[in-house]
Amino acid sequence: MNFQILVTNRQQTFTVSEGELLLHAMEKACQQAIKVGCRGGGCGLCKVKILQGRYQSKRMSKAHISTEEQASGFALACRVFPEGDLVIESDHFDEHANQPTQVSVVK
Ligand code: FES
Repeated sequence: MNFQILVTNRQQTFTVSEGELLLHAMEKACQQAIKVGCRGGGCGLCKVKILQGRYQSKRMSKAHISTEEQASGFALACRVFPEGDLVIESDHFDEHANQPTQVSVVK
């Protein structure tokens, strides 16, 4: 089964097969609608907001997707398995996504 992905901010669409990762499907379609980085959930570059549709995701680092963000539809495209047609918005990565995370201690 195939699902249709619409990236609203880029006005691009591509198809993803059932059980295929969102980011992988976009790359296979030779598109650049979502930024590609490590492909493994570590850099945060592929952060998107899912506006409509059903999906499953593998565990995502809280450094890139907080619990609140996850609840409001933010996800890492390299960790997302669509389960139906999706409408998403890309380019939600943090400017410093590639930088090493700074740990601040709150007292
Ligand atoms: S590509 Fe690095 S987190 Fe998805």
